[in-house]
Amino acid sequence: MNKFITFEGVDGAGKSTHLAWFADALRQRGGEVIVTREPGGTPLGEQLREMLLNQPMSIGTEALLMFAARLEHVEQVIKPALAAGKWVISDRFSDASFAYQGGGRGMDWEKLRQLEQWVHADLQPDLTLFFDVPVEVARLRLANNVSLDRFEQEQDAFFERVRAGYHRRVAENPQRYAVIDAAQTLAAVQQQLVAIIESI
Ligand code: TYD
Repeated sequence: MNKFITFEGVDGAGKSTHLAWFADALRQRGGEVIVTREPGGTPLGEQLREMLLNQPMSIGTEALLMFAARLEHVEQVIKPALAAGKWVISDRFSDASFAYQGGGRGMDWEKLRQLEQWVHADLQPDLTLFFDVPVEVARLRLANNVSLDRFEQEQDAFFERVRAGYHRRVAENPQRYAVIDAAQTLAAVQQQLVAIIESI
């Protein structure tokens, strides 16, 4: 049976590299797989992404735009693909709003829950791979990037709060998550991904 799988982690955890590998491995097993991302995933969502990643704005606006992009994404892309029997893998989803806007920026957790209820009360990922890594390690990996977006330019303390936000989400609903120690070598992480693919 096809599933909705999301990938999460602080910037620099390596999730995008692992996502591409995971999607290929899943395709080799058979079945149609679509890969998408947030913020983004639709033409309007990609325009919102451009603003969100580059333009200063208030915390509430940031959260609302994240969820506005998500509403389009859920309705236009995720639900139709799942209904058509495809696997959907999204690079980030609502856990990122709880971690970044809630943990990182300090937005009220309950308000985020209300937005989540509004935008996708009837849909949650079947599985979320959370790539967990100490902030120092993530920062070292980001140091190779030529240009950093508005989030990536934040201080270490921000990323510590983001990481704590992810841990809070995992603690609230542990059965939905596979927590992966992303400080390991690429090969060691891939071994864990193989085990996950065999189990789903
Ligand atoms: P990211 O997924 O890391 O893309 P890239 O690998 O191209 O940098 O970038 C998206 C950024 O948006 C990331 O810093 C986290 C942030 N974000 C939020 O703050 N809230 C959200 O709800 C989502 C989906 C992302």
